[in-house]
Amino acid sequence: MSKKLEIRTPDDWHLHLRDGEVMRSVLPETARHFARALVMPNLDPPVVTAAHAETYRRSIMDALPPGSRFRPLMTLYLTELTDPADVKAAAADGLISAVKLYPAGATTNSESGVKDFSKITPVLEVLAETGVPLCVHGEVADFDVDVFDREAVFIERVLDPLRTRVPGLKVVLEHATTDDAVAYVRENKPSVAATITVHHLMINRNHVLAGGIRPHLYCAPIAKREKHRIALREAATGDESCFFLGTDSAPHPDRLKESSCGCAGVFSATVALPCLAHVFEDRGALDKLERFASLNGAEFYGVAPNEGRVVLEKSADPEPAPSSIQAGGDRVTVFNPGIETEWRVAARYGG
Ligand code: NCD
Ligand code: ZN
Repeated sequence: MSKKLEIRTPDDWHLHLRDGEVMRSVLPETARHFARALVMPNLDPPVVTAAHAETYRRSIMDALPPGSRFRPLMTLYLTELTDPADVKAAAADGLISAVKLYPAGATTNSESGVKDFSKITPVLEVLAETGVPLCVHGEVADFDVDVFDREAVFIERVLDPLRTRVPGLKVVLEHATTDDAVAYVRENKPSVAATITVHHLMINRNHVLAGGIRPHLYCAPIAKREKHRIALREAATGDESCFFLGTDSAPHPDRLKESSCGCAGVFSATVALPCLAHVFEDRGALDKLERFASLNGAEFYGVAPNEGRVVLEKSADPEPAPSSIQAGGDRVTVFNPGIETEWRVAARYGG
């Protein structure tokens, strides 16, 4: 017996599209199932200015499959030298939906990120004034801090003081991975929200490290112990609108992941919705999937939810999901949670 679930077309509130040929290869994987995505600015060089964001936006629009109604929502990469006037103009033009804070050294292409958080106060004041959210990669990058503690330490040492300095700032704690992050968002909503990825709902650190190291499950922030995954599942499948989907789908060529110093990032766009349906069904919460994937994020960002619909279908013999895609002459492995997902996207209509 097949089972069906129809929801408003979802949005992905945290996505890496890269640029050039890789972007052209990965974009259809997201545009197929999502109406909009918040596109991360950690290109090389990063998208620091409004002018760069506009060029990048156009290149994404030009790369869309014919007839696609997908819309990229743009972000700026915050540096210590970012000009508050440029951010203000980009906000006024409606060009940007968010500004992204990367602590220097925390993740892929974060070298131009922030070291001295006091230097970004004038930009944060512009964000508070214009209502544009600050999206944060919530990990400190200090070598002295254990990699599994970096999110909790960031909240205490960086995020909380920064929010005290700039009252009224809207913040999204991106790719939350700990029960500390879930608790902090609950205590500080509605001005603080969190995105949660599909893979952090499905794997814990044993999946990454026990019985062999699995580079395609390695990402930043790294998956934590099981109690944290349980906290994330409860948050995502609950009733609170402060938690929403951001896949953090982050393509890297297999040759750079399967290496002596493999880079961070899980490429999940292709299988994000079927995997989510699996998680929500497992929790007996299929009725909450639409809130998490299609409503809560739009509400936080102050945009209308999508009018279109996607239909998810569960059947005993679904088409197998591809294990990889080709991008820029390289193979990119698709997220594999290690369990059979019988859900597929069966139809999409109305945008
Ligand atoms: C992301 C990437 O590859 O750009 N990697 C990741 O592991 N999540 C960057 C990021 O979001 O940290
Ligand atoms: Zn990311």
